[in-house]
Amino acid sequence: MSLFVTKSVEKLMAESAGEGAGGHGHSALKRTLGATQLVALGIGAIVGAGIFVLTGVASAEHAGPAVVYSFIAAAIGCALAGFCYSEFSTMIPIAGSAYAYSYATLGELVAWIIGWALVLEYAVGAATVSVGWSGTVVSILASLGITLPSALLNSPWDMTPGVMNLPAVLIIVAITAILIKGIQESARFNAVIVAIKLIVVVLFIILGYAYINRDNYVPFLPPNTTGEFGNFGWTGVLAAAGQIFFAYIGFDAVSTAAQEAKNPKRDMPLGIIGSLAVCTVLYILYALVLTGVVNYKELNVAAPYALAVDQMKGMPWLGFWMKFGSLLGLTTVMLVMLLGQSRVFYSMSRDGLLPGLFSEIHDKFRTPWKSNLVLMVFVSLLAAFTPISHLGQLTSIGTLAAFIVVCVGIIVLRKTHPHLPRPFRTPFVPVLPALGVLANFALMYSLSKLTWIAFVCWMGLGLVIYFSYSRTRSVLQLSLISRR
Ligand code: ALA
Repeated sequence: MSLFVTKSVEKLMAESAGEGAGGHGHSALKRTLGATQLVALGIGAIVGAGIFVLTGVASAEHAGPAVVYSFIAAAIGCALAGFCYSEFSTMIPIAGSAYAYSYATLGELVAWIIGWALVLEYAVGAATVSVGWSGTVVSILASLGITLPSALLNSPWDMTPGVMNLPAVLIIVAITAILIKGIQESARFNAVIVAIKLIVVVLFIILGYAYINRDNYVPFLPPNTTGEFGNFGWTGVLAAAGQIFFAYIGFDAVSTAAQEAKNPKRDMPLGIIGSLAVCTVLYILYALVLTGVVNYKELNVAAPYALAVDQMKGMPWLGFWMKFGSLLGLTTVMLVMLLGQSRVFYSMSRDGLLPGLFSEIHDKFRTPWKSNLVLMVFVSLLAAFTPISHLGQLTSIGTLAAFIVVCVGIIVLRKTHPHLPRPFRTPFVPVLPALGVLANFALMYSLSKLTWIAFVCWMGLGLVIYFSYSRTRSVLQLSLISRR
């Protein structure tokens, strides 16, 4: 059996049309999403904890107001990967995203590794965000005079140990219910919330502009006085970029909905690059306003925007709406991440690398409901009982690994299949994808040692599962054997 056997692109295309391995009409996902819904899905996944929390920490600890440069740097890495995702998702509009693209280009083992890394992005990402959601809801309730018992708000490994994080579990269950109900329901719910969270962020930028104190921008790039990596100066900008990269995660999740898009050839690039572009502009403006209104040294807090709102005299209501906006923001991030995860598992299961239940589609709702339920249990356990919030960077490292492989995949596929129809072409191949590899590797490099260790352990576990389970059940491997 070959570890590097690749799945033919033609076969993948047939599957995307609902005719592939085991693909009878009733087992296929429904094609109902339009361009606006796809852009909204992207923004739904992107705007969340990153912008509302990490911008403050990154500027206070690493970059000062130059965190704006970090946002630009991270956006460049994402845009380069975004072009490659767009090319793949128009060429092979299938649910598996980076996993499926690597199966077609770099072989089964790499595909498995990337599918496994995507669990860090989507499932672990959703668990991390659900803990942030829980903290935000607790603080909103506290401002209304309602306090919940701390035993039900903390995992046994938190600073204040508790029994479990109950609100995090409740929101995961609620989101799972929407996801099972249908892709249209999920997309509509997402669109409404995205509209509100965008209004809140835009309001903050417009109202905050008048309160910018230019002295806070001096120095714009605080010097690195200790020589230590990441302690301000340009290495600080890179470290902050690695940290706020989290804020951009999610635009790639649009590609996991490719099999449910009405017109993927036109709408995938719009959804992927469109949502990324909107968020990049908003993030840069947001960071400029935040560090202009409050001095960066004071921003190392859980809700940095609250400090900024305090400076905006006469607008205390904005504080409540910002908090509410961030709560809603986190809700759709989880929604799209859990959606993405179930779609990646759908593809992996159809290929035989995961058990069949992950690709069973509900007769009426046409969603992979069993997969949604298994994920609900897994993500709830992580959120309720583990110190997952300390492992947020794992989400970033898993995502960056996928980005790198997608960029490499574009170069490989141009060589192996130069004549395939490409409705969207990444410009300047191989230079642009190669730069994508470099930029995303630089971001990966800036992450902590602990994150790297956890990443390597996770990947090791993945390899054990691949060699002990998936390899012998792979539909592709079995078909090769039966042909001999
Ligand atoms: N981009 C998402 C967030 O910032 C993951 O919450």
